[in-house]
Amino acid sequence: MAQNEEIRILAIESSCDETAASVVVNGRDVRSNVISSQIDIHTLYGGVVPEIASRKHIERINQVVQQALDEAGMSLDEIDAVAVTYGPGLVGALLVGVAEAKAIAWARNLPFIGVHHIEGHISANYIENPDLEPPFGCLVVSGGHTHLVRVKDYGEYEILGKTADDAAGEAFDKVARAIGLGYPGGPKIDKAARSGDPLAIEFPRGKVRGSEYDFSFSGLKSAVLNYLNEKKMKGEEICVEDVAASFQKSVVDVLVEHSVHAINEFGFRKFAIAGGVASNSALRAAMEEACERRRVHFYRPSPVLCTDNAAMIGAAAYYEYRKGVRSDWSLNAVPNLKLGER
Ligand code: KG4
Ligand code: ZN
Repeated sequence: MAQNEEIRILAIESSCDETAASVVVNGRDVRSNVISSQIDIHTLYGGVVPEIASRKHIERINQVVQQALDEAGMSLDEIDAVAVTYGPGLVGALLVGVAEAKAIAWARNLPFIGVHHIEGHISANYIENPDLEPPFGCLVVSGGHTHLVRVKDYGEYEILGKTADDAAGEAFDKVARAIGLGYPGGPKIDKAARSGDPLAIEFPRGKVRGSEYDFSFSGLKSAVLNYLNEKKMKGEEICVEDVAASFQKSVVDVLVEHSVHAINEFGFRKFAIAGGVASNSALRAAMEEACERRRVHFYRPSPVLCTDNAAMIGAAAYYEYRKGVRSDWSLNAVPNLKLGER
């Protein structure tokens, strides 16, 4: 591949409840980033309903892909490769994107690249930071995942720690539901917490015995539920803002503590955060401060690139493409795909 050759990748993401497509040039130059959210319909049920998600993806995918091409001012003739998230995620939802990407790549005789969703989240950091290159540490916190990762090189990852039970975003969503804020909980807790006192209630900091990098959020979630029940039984008022702020502080403290531990242990000079929860204002501020204090360069994507999108898949796919990675037509959706597996 010539040094200055432009590689234009059409990327598709449909692993959960956003139907998304994007055109990304050379991994970092996002020409379009179309996201069609299904949040309104899932809100009616208090969470993502997999069957509905698959059906909505089917209804929207062709238009979303066309819009991504239109906004990039490109036709399929100008695309060099097609990339798609093939796991982890909801199997029916993933299948829609995989089938769409395969169909386009097959019809146009284009290279086809399956991308790991978490690799996408991590790669979102490349988009706005032209100087960011591995190695670096990365905390990936989303609705389905909580991973502390050592990014050794493009596409080369070592998982240092992960959650033993709920993902961080899942804890936000469950607690938000319990205090009546609704779905999706993360942004609502973030907002409510701004007018609450993070020191008002002492919630536990989840630990996993024998593992300094793993996370556990189910105990914290139970502690919040117990607190709410106790208050209710005593007929006492609940201050939603204080519960939100105190819960959020418990989550953020643990995420930052483990990240700092990894920074010290592995000597990272660069540290990034990624995934939906990485748009949390308290986490961003606390991680930034922790990194600054240690003279570690801190990276975080803009909120629109933290939550699910296809630009991050296009960024990850570019580095796979350069390494010569190509998927074949037998590629299937893998709902529990592990990071680093192919
Ligand atoms: O990365 P993402 O869009 O989907 C998954 O791959 O899971 O993450 C969605 C998760 C949800 O749990 C949502 O509540 C959480 O990210 N989230 C937040 C915030 N914005 C989204 N959590 C905390 N604070 C936020 N501002
Ligand atoms: Zn995600």
